[in-house]
Amino acid sequence: MEKKIAVIRGDGIGPEIVGEAINVLNKVAEKFGHTFIYDETLMGGCAIDAYGDPFPQVSLDKCLNSDAVLLGAVGGPKWDGVPKEIRPERGLLRMRSSLGLYANIRPTKLFPQMKEACPLKPEISEKGVDFVVVRELVSGVYFGEHRSEQVNGQEKATDIMAYTEEEIRRIAHVAFRLAEKRRKKVCSVDKANVLATSRLWRRVVSEVAESYPNVELSHMYVDNCAMQIIRAPHQFDVIVTENLFGDILSDEASIIGGSIGLIPSASMGSGTLGVYEPIHGSAPDIAGTDTANPIGTILAAAELLRNSFDMLTEAKAIEDAVSRVLDDGCRCGDIMSEGMKQVGCREMGRLICEAI
Ligand code: IPM
Ligand code: MG
Repeated sequence: MEKKIAVIRGDGIGPEIVGEAINVLNKVAEKFGHTFIYDETLMGGCAIDAYGDPFPQVSLDKCLNSDAVLLGAVGGPKWDGVPKEIRPERGLLRMRSSLGLYANIRPTKLFPQMKEACPLKPEISEKGVDFVVVRELVSGVYFGEHRSEQVNGQEKATDIMAYTEEEIRRIAHVAFRLAEKRRKKVCSVDKANVLATSRLWRRVVSEVAESYPNVELSHMYVDNCAMQIIRAPHQFDVIVTENLFGDILSDEASIIGGSIGLIPSASMGSGTLGVYEPIHGSAPDIAGTDTANPIGTILAAAELLRNSFDMLTEAKAIEDAVSRVLDDGCRCGDIMSEGMKQVGCREMGRLICEAI
């Protein structure tokens, strides 16, 4: 197959980790007889420097003309002072909404080789950790009105959180369809004891559940969920939640796997075009030092092959290669533990290519 991939390396460690993911994709192309054509484009701080805009039209056009998008990470202290309308994060949010990527899928899994790095007590992690956070990505408070005004001599700030039935319904379907392929449990997370959006969320998710009689639905308040993820993570299969809650819970969940550096993320809309990225940030403090962990981005490339190109065997080949390199005791700095062999970003990428 011949496929076109828009590549956004971004800022900080983005270029390094994406470079390794591309090496891995090239290895897969060679082994399985595919051609991947890469179209490099800018987003975030580097796009502000080049165009004065964190997600210029040319970048959007390149994404729309591709079969999938591979993304590193954006932002850094260099752009802390830019006006809020053009902050690097704004580019990311605009990309999500202009590509219609309403579903963000973030798995949390404890690799058996990573037990040492898991911060939970063994009696908790031993029961198994394997769940997915399905986060609504283009609505809620992220995309409501943000306002600041002077009221009675002091500044008052307002952020609006809004959801429509349809926005909830479509993300609920994503969660149920995913659960059907897994352990058939959906936990819908909200704050229905306080928020109107959450009461609507609960009603709509419950209605959608009627179309999936073989999937068990439960509801949980977000504060309790934050606790349960640490106290008894084995109870979760698919968690579905709104944008801000999903942002917070997915970071919390990521550390159970040992490091945020290991977790991929897929953002999908109604078609096959998706954006694939690691869930961590641009880590400007270690940029250019060849110490970043490329595994999250490499696993994101595997998700890209699986979700957007339907290349299931190829995706599995990448995941198995990552597993074998971990089995061999190779670790980047963030997941280093006693008795293991520490390697840099480039070496980790090379080892994974070799294992493929
Ligand atoms: C994420 C990030 C972004 C978000 C930031 C960088 C705007 O934290 O992808 O989780 O909040 O969605
Ligand atoms: Mg986040």
